[in-house]
Amino acid sequence: MVRVVRFHEHGGPEVLRIEDVEVPPPGPGEVRIRVKALGLNRAEALLRRGTYIETPHLPSGLGLEAAGIVDALGEGVAGFATGEAVSIVPPLSMVRWPAYGELATFPAELVVRHPPSLSWEAAAALWMPYLTAYGALVEIAGLGGADFVIITAASSSVGLAATQIANMIGATVIAVTRTSAKKQALLAFGAAHVIASAEEDLKVRLQDITGPEGVRVVFDAVGGPIFGTLTAAMSRGGILIEYGGLSPEPTPFPLFAVLSKRLTLRGYLVHEITGDPARLAAAKAFILDGVAAGALRPVIARTFPFEEIVAAHRFLESNEQFGKIVVTV
Ligand SMILES: NC(=O)c1ccc[n+]([C@@H]2O[C@H](COP(=O)([O-])OP(=O)(O)OC[C@H]3O[C@@H](n4cnc5c(N)ncnc54)[C@H](OP(=O)(O)O)[C@@H]3O)[C@@H](O)[C@H]2O)c1
Repeated sequence: MVRVVRFHEHGGPEVLRIEDVEVPPPGPGEVRIRVKALGLNRAEALLRRGTYIETPHLPSGLGLEAAGIVDALGEGVAGFATGEAVSIVPPLSMVRWPAYGELATFPAELVVRHPPSLSWEAAAALWMPYLTAYGALVEIAGLGGADFVIITAASSSVGLAATQIANMIGATVIAVTRTSAKKQALLAFGAAHVIASAEEDLKVRLQDITGPEGVRVVFDAVGGPIFGTLTAAMSRGGILIEYGGLSPEPTPFPLFAVLSKRLTLRGYLVHEITGDPARLAAAKAFILDGVAAGALRPVIARTFPFEEIVAAHRFLESNEQFGKIVVTV
């Protein structure tokens, strides 16, 4: 028996329970990992609350990111050996392959031998943020050195990964955070400009920064009322990549900005990258090169022990974090 985290009903962090279960041997094409660290994601809080794009059967496990040691190999798996240090590319379904446990099983094609220089914590904080940001900014938007890019929820793990990737490319980052609490940290982290959207006039600040030309690329996890301001700040032919729905408020459709500037508003899930072997290979190479060069470094906001998974989820939903919340197992 090993300890895993499950929930039997939807709700707040308190519904998470640590339970002893039997983890079966890995199936064909799967690898079982002895987990050392977990990276927490907003998606896991949404699954727990019953508002995620995936609907679980209860009781359900959860979790999308882990790093650990190869414990057992399923039939037909080549290229890995037990005892190797690995981390996990987020699976298409966290209900089918949940990460929160002492042992967890994943499809072999999602298991990565990460650089030995990465700690367990950093390895567990790598793949979701950097794959998400890479797919949107590099593959879809074709971000270049001459571009401005607006990154909302900039202090999130994905926002910080996007900032590092944009800086690596040479683009100019305009980070949007709600209050000034994280402003200095974002500037120190490498954002060229930081706007506190609840305290400053977002429209005026964007105009001041970009002039009449506007911003070609917007990477937005928020939606809601700022959508109109973001699209108003975009340049002709610009692209807004929508990848989250953090705002609980309705998102207006900015018809005239979209029409007059021929804007592309593009929904995006990281599954687009992780579900395509060729795109995933290119993304992994970009990220591992960036890690090796020291340009990409996962930011860990706080680390909790496994026993404090409820507190870790509370902190995740407090929005106080700057970067990734990690749980050590
Ligand atoms: N499409 C995909 O494939 C994909 C993949 C990964 C993540 N995501 C999405 O990306 C977003 C960030 O995920 P994460 O796990 O990196 O998040 P996170 O680290 O938990 O960061 C959340 C941050 O977002 C900001 N925020 C929270 N509520 C907000 C609101 N109502 N309005 C505006 N900003 C708000 C806060 O930053 P400030 O304090 O700075 O305002 C907060 O610290 C989530 O929406 C998640 O679902 C999508």
